Amino acid sequence: MPAPSRSDASPLLRRLLPDAEATDRVGAALGLALAPGDAVLLSGDLGAGKSALARAAIAAILAREGRVEEIPSPSFTLVQTYESDIAEIWHADLHRLAGPAAIPELGLEDAFDEAVCLIEWPDRLGPLAPARRLEIALAFPPGDAEGREMQARATGPGWAAALAALDA
Ligand SMILES: Nc1ncnc2c1ncn2[C@@H]1O[C@H](COP(=O)(O)OP(=O)(O)OP(=O)(O)O)[C@@H](O)[C@H]1O
Ligand SMILES: [Mg+2]
Repeated sequence: MPAPSRSDASPLLRRLLPDAEATDRVGAALGLALAPGDAVLLSGDLGAGKSALARAAIAAILAREGRVEEIPSPSFTLVQTYESDIAEIWHADLHRLAGPAAIPELGLEDAFDEAVCLIEWPDRLGPLAPARRLEIALAFPPGDAEGREMQARATGPGWAAALAALDA
């Protein structure tokens, strides 16, 4: 019997996003590759580009349906949801949550099963983070370099299209 693998995580994907347009392009490509039950966990410091990437993903899904809609920040509402032809889309910003105790009332656990979820500040989920997930970390490059460094890793099956979109 083969030894069980220590993890079902993908290799780490690293990419430099030289400007905001690159973040938008990657976000849009990712959005078009997402399916119901996909949870994208977006981490990085304030201003790293988590919302920019999430907005581009949502806008691309809606644009595929011929829709152009305002995509407000979920900083104060914590969650913004959108209907779409493929699934409900959940965009959450958990920065203001103290910890996982407040997660159940948001309904996020059901959303992880059924919706397309884009979650900023996912460290707040603690043990409630979904096992099957795509983690994307955005960081400011060292020194005065422009752009953002993106690292991505998927855990669980069914992420090939999303990883390809991030790498394209
Ligand atoms: N690759 C990039 N290079 C340079 N600037 C970028 C890049 N991607 C995004 N930006 C810019 O960085 C800013 C990111 O803001 P954004 O609100 O997306 O950050 P955030 O990570 O969601 O922050 P917060 O934690 O406050 O929610 C925007 O002004 C955006 O235009
Ligand atoms: Mg944000």
